[in-house]
Amino acid sequence: MLDGVTSALTTAPLTLGKHEVWPPVVLAPMAGITNVAFRKLCREQGGGVYVCEMITTRALVEQIPKTLKMIAFGPDEEFRSLQLYGVDPDVTARAVRMVAEEGWADHIDLNFGCPVPKVTRRGGGSALPWRRKLFGRIVKQAVEAAAPAGIPLTIKMRKGIDEDHLTYVEAGLIAQEAGVAAVALHARTAEQRYSGTADWDAIATLKQALDVPVLGNGDIWEASDAIRMVEHTGVDGVVVGRGCLGRPWLFKDLQAAFEGRVSQELPTLGEVAAIMSRHAHLLVQALGDERHGCADFRKHIAWYLKGFPVGGDLRRALAMVKSLAELDGLLAQLEHDAPFPRESLGQPRGRINAPGKVSLPYGWLESRDDDTVPEGAEMENSGG
Ligand SMILES: Cc1cc2nc3c(=O)[nH]c(=O)nc-3n(C[C@H](O)[C@H](O)[C@H](O)COP(=O)(O)O)c2cc1C
Repeated sequence: MLDGVTSALTTAPLTLGKHEVWPPVVLAPMAGITNVAFRKLCREQGGGVYVCEMITTRALVEQIPKTLKMIAFGPDEEFRSLQLYGVDPDVTARAVRMVAEEGWADHIDLNFGCPVPKVTRRGGGSALPWRRKLFGRIVKQAVEAAAPAGIPLTIKMRKGIDEDHLTYVEAGLIAQEAGVAAVALHARTAEQRYSGTADWDAIATLKQALDVPVLGNGDIWEASDAIRMVEHTGVDGVVVGRGCLGRPWLFKDLQAAFEGRVSQELPTLGEVAAIMSRHAHLLVQALGDERHGCADFRKHIAWYLKGFPVGGDLRRALAMVKSLAELDGLLAQLEHDAPFPRESLGQPRGRINAPGKVSLPYGWLESRDDDTVPEGAEMENSGG
């Protein structure tokens, strides 16, 4: 019997406005990762929502060419899910209106989870829900701008700034009141960044507090973890981030698990090599340039090879790959029959950093009801 996934789970599809999503699984937005190439690779494995990389509202409103390229979805993406980051209610509403009027997406998520110091220091990302009036204005104006096009608007947030400054229940209620279609909680504080374990009890608390669908996020490494999260918290859906890094086939296991089937893809190294090659080819196609695509693919290599027997020289050569032909030549040298390293199952992967005190603007914590738009809190790229 495979780890945990043993019985049929009667979970309803996830409802996002007029859309029904099955299984109730979301690929978490991940800057630098969830571009059109990675989304395609994951989407081919199972159903769900596959969110693009975060886009800043300011860059969208200013129509920065690189940003417009980042929001280009694949022709076969039926449910185009876009995450926006904003700190200014008017700029955010303008960006959402643009998306709605141009028909650029079918779903918009707002990011209130970014813990990067250069963002929180200015009052953006995970610092923002603390300023509850400003938060409420941003969400309300965004919901109103999305409504005429029937685009469901959701938010993604953390538990709060730190354990002494939790915001998630209040922010969830404010967002619900503003008319969001769902609320996602990454159950860590900003102070935790990616350290420690996600607090699934907090997800259960939020689920109890809200009527709109709640999505749980944090530490789903295997499909069985997703089922455990649903059972533990009663959430309407799960958001999966780092668990699928170097493992796009996780979405196949997730689909099976939500349908009560036991499935755990354990590809051999040869099969992983084939997926790696495909990923790199898709990236080159998406970025329109072989060198750039191969350079972007390098960050994925260690995730794909985690736990497999691969010599240091080959790993180093792969980490510097410059062309698809070179990549395929190196992948051919892998021991194709090597079985999947079971000991890496259920283990954290990707970003796991230490906690750190949250940098905030002067006086931020003392004035919760100040709704002045923070200055300089826009950013070029992200983390959540
Ligand atoms: C490389 C990386 C980039 C991320 N970028 C974003 C982002 O742009 N927007 C966002 O809301 N969250 C972002 N996140 C956070 C994830 O969406 C997710 O909330 C977090 O990784 C916790 O889920 P997990 O335990 O399943 O990984 C990022 C995470 C990682 C590891």
